[in-house]
Amino acid sequence: IKNVGVYTSGGDAPGMNAAIRAVVRTALYYNLEVTGIRRGYEGMINGDFLTMDRKSVGNIIQRGGTILKTARSEHFKTAEGRKLAYENLKKRGIDALVAIGGDGTFTGAKVFGKEYNFPIVGLPGTIDNDLLGTDYTIGYDTAINTVIDAVDKIRDTAESHDRLFIVEVMGRDSGLIALRTGIAAGAEAILIPETKTDLNALYHKLEQGRKDKSSKIVIVAEGEEAGGAFEIGKLIKDRFPNYDTRVSVLGHIQRGGRPSCQDRVLASRVGVAAVEALLKGHHNEMIGVINGEISYTPFESAIKHNTEINPALLKIVDILSL
Ligand code: F6P
Repeated sequence: IKNVGVYTSGGDAPGMNAAIRAVVRTALYYNLEVTGIRRGYEGMINGDFLTMDRKSVGNIIQRGGTILKTARSEHFKTAEGRKLAYENLKKRGIDALVAIGGDGTFTGAKVFGKEYNFPIVGLPGTIDNDLLGTDYTIGYDTAINTVIDAVDKIRDTAESHDRLFIVEVMGRDSGLIALRTGIAAGAEAILIPETKTDLNALYHKLEQGRKDKSSKIVIVAEGEEAGGAFEIGKLIKDRFPNYDTRVSVLGHIQRGGRPSCQDRVLASRVGVAAVEALLKGHHNEMIGVINGEISYTPFESAIKHNTEINPALLKIVDILSL
């Protein structure tokens, strides 16, 4: 390997810059060249490349977003798009890739890596924490801290007005952000797609809950099957016209901001390990951390969604929200 290409793709996540920095500096440490590819697969198709040196990744470890920019590419899903990408990589002399992203990114990497026998490894970069093969993804810790910061603020106003709030958090079809933040913010109930929501049980809970509680917060994962925060909010309003109910959808603030210490350290660890893995001949694998140790998981396994919800965590919510 002589020249490693690095790119971020799909939804951005805090800590992606720390990961880019780690990949670039590790490649240089091992005397490799490094090329940044802008906007993920779109940049490969358009030949949007830049040579990276030590300085190009200076002063970015603390910044949210991604200096390489990101995109969701429809063109790369076509054989013709991937051929253009391959030709551009060849022309530029890039002979290995580090992909930073989530399941869409790794699906593209898996297809491309096999089609052109191209060495690619991946780093888990998504706020959703929905990949198998790592305990945590880069960006998840920052996102959940952003969520609890927001919900704590909502709690202040909910408490002042004796209100019930339905707060929707991101996660696509995963409830991991909702579950963890619901516990941390002391939510009265958490609705997630991994478990079937019993609306009657929810109503019962809201009704029977301590009467002297002046605020109530229900956290809803965006992928919840019973509906998003507005639908759930409407059902609750219809059922309890006397409750002063409000809905808040947190949205993209969850994707921004300075990465937490944990995300920076995780990104740095897997970034170094990714380049070392390529040098050792690893292909088509995501580099993660499981129980404190670096782990290697084939792309096809990593993208099988992490649907495991620890039932003990759900029980905690029930016990502690009494
Ligand atoms: O995968 C990260 C994520 O923020 C999900 O939680 C969410 O469903 C999705 O991306 C939103 O994507 P976009 O920013 O393209 O609307």
